[in-house]
Formats: sequence, C-alpha cells, structure tokens
Amino acid sequence: MIMSDLNPNTTLTLNDGNLIPQIGFGVFEITDKNLCEKSVKVALDEGYRHIDTAIVYNNEEFVGNAIKNSSVDRSEIFITTKYFPDNVDKARKELQISLDKLKTDYIDLFLVHWPVGDYLKTWESFQDLQKEGLCKSIGVSNFTIKRFEKDFFAKFNRSPAVNQIELHLFNQERELGEYCSNKGIILEAYSPLARAQKFSNHILKSIAKSVEKSPAQVMIRYLLQKGIVVIPKSKKPKRIKENIQVFDFNLDDEIIKRLDALNEGYISLGWTPPDFY
Ligand SMILES: NC(=O)c1ccc[n+]([C@@H]2O[C@H](COP(=O)([O-])OP(=O)(O)OC[C@H]3O[C@@H](n4cnc5c(N)ncnc54)[C@H](OP(=O)(O)O)[C@@H]3O)[C@@H](O)[C@H]2O)c1
Repeated sequence: MIMSDLNPNTTLTLNDGNLIPQIGFGVFEITDKNLCEKSVKVALDEGYRHIDTAIVYNNEEFVGNAIKNSSVDRSEIFITTKYFPDNVDKARKELQISLDKLKTDYIDLFLVHWPVGDYLKTWESFQDLQKEGLCKSIGVSNFTIKRFEKDFFAKFNRSPAVNQIELHLFNQERELGEYCSNKGIILEAYSPLARAQKFSNHILKSIAKSVEKSPAQVMIRYLLQKGIVVIPKSKKPKRIKENIQVFDFNLDDEIIKRLDALNEGYISLGWTPPDFY
C-alpha cells in the first residue's frame, strides 16, 4: 500500500475497529523525570497524539504527568504501554499499576512486549482486560511468522491488533509485513530511524538532499507512505519537531523504488531473549 495523502492526524483502523494515529512518539531510554516530561510536552505541543511507552522503560509516571499537565484532552491522546510476560501471569496487576502511573482509567493499546515466559496465558488475560475496557486494543511485539504459526494461532483464532517490530529502511521485514497484512495485523515500526546508525548511507543522504529533507525525515516518510505506524524517539526538542514535519513532501514512485533497494536486514537494537524464534 502506498499512501500519499497523509497528515499529522492520519489514523489507521485496527482489526477491532479502533483508530491508531499513524505517527507516534517513542520514549524508550528517556528515564530522567524532567527530560521525559519535557519531551512528551514538546511532542504534544508539536502535534503528536500517540505516545509509546512500556513498563520496562521506567517512565510511565513521567509520561502520565506530562499528559495530565498538558492542555490536550486525554481522549485525544493514544497511549501504548507494554507488559513483559513472566512465568507467572501478572498482566492484570501490572496493568493496574500502569494505569495509576499514567493517571488514566484505560490504555489505548496494551502490548505483549516480547514472546517470552507464559505469554500465551498472558494473552488470555489481555483478552479479559480488553473486555473489561481497561485497554481498548491489544497487540503483540517482536513476533515472528514462526511464533505466530507455531504457537499463537495454534491456540487463538483472533489476530492481535498490531505487531510492533524493528522496522526501517534497512530492515524492511517484507515477508512478515505481508503475513501480518493477510492476518489483519497492523505493523508498527520501532527503531524507525535504525537508532541513528544509518544516516550516513550515501543513497539515503542524496535522496534526502533531493527532497530538501533530513535523512531522518525520509526514513519516517517512507514508512508512513507504506501504511505503517511509526514511533520515532528523540529527547531533543528540535528533532522531536523535525520528526513530525514529514507531511509537506511526498516520495515519488522512483524514489520509493530506490529506498526499497536499501533493505539489508540490518538490526539496530541487537537484543533478543535467549529462546527467541
Ligand atoms: N517493542 C519493542 O521491543 C521496542 C524496542 C525498541 C524501541 N521501541 C519503541 O520504538 C521507539 C523508537 O525506537 P528507538 O528509540 O529504539 O530508536 P529510533 O527512534 O530509531 O532512534 C532514536 C535515535 O535517533 C536519534 N534521533 C532521533 N531523531 C533524530 C533526528 N531527527 N536526527 C538525528 N538523530 C535523531 C535519537 O537521539 P536523541 O534522542 O539524542 O535525539 C536516538 O539516538 C522507542 O522509543 C520505543 O517507544 C520498542
């Protein structure tokens, strides 16, 4: 899918009927209270309406403070948090703590952070929590085709709303993307800037120059045009702003083809659990 008619408020429809803003602000590794509160404030001021946090990021409380102190109504902000499964199912208890920290009575999207521990049992709890309205949508993160086929769909019929994975120009995950699309699962791109490790690629640089944008803006726009949810992170106000200024230009078919060719399976985060498959 190539989308060109995009704006900061563009949403995608999840398989449960809820809407997810296509651009979001990630807060991984922003653990300092003041910096996190300030970064989320800048993001909201600049027009982001989707914040992506996780229990293990240790900043839900700061995200909650920033949202509470903001002039933007809670109902206009899409909040994602993630639960890291354990061998004991604590999803309900952990969600309640997240709700308190985020100062809200519902999460828009609750994700199984990694397929570890007793995550299938966790998914059963997630379904209950969704029915009770404590989270509007439920999804997964870091799921491979093998994981879906061997475990998840052997037990459950209904697809998760999203699969949040490392996805960017240099790791395009086309096969998994097609699989998710066929299953009605929206793809969310984490580390969409390849964690700033690929900005010096000369093809990316020359395309960025030709459209008078930064390499970061081209990386974000490429994913938006592919119909993918994108959640770049920055702790610098100038970059937070830059990363949402991606709606005043378009990448044409020829440029998209050249960017498609940059796919090389490059992984920037480089962490996986021991029994990952
Ligand atoms: N589900 C998961 O397992 C998972 C894993 C990883 C990430 N995530 C989510 O995805 C979000 C984004 O991923 P990420 O934080 O790993 O990486 P990212 O967004 O790809 O890149 C962040 C890096 O790029 C730099 N940066 C940001 N904007 C820039 C710009 N315009 N120009 C130059 N440098 C720029 C940042 O530095 P400064 O901060 O100094 O600007 C930081 O070093 C996370 O915050 C988190 O919400 C999820």
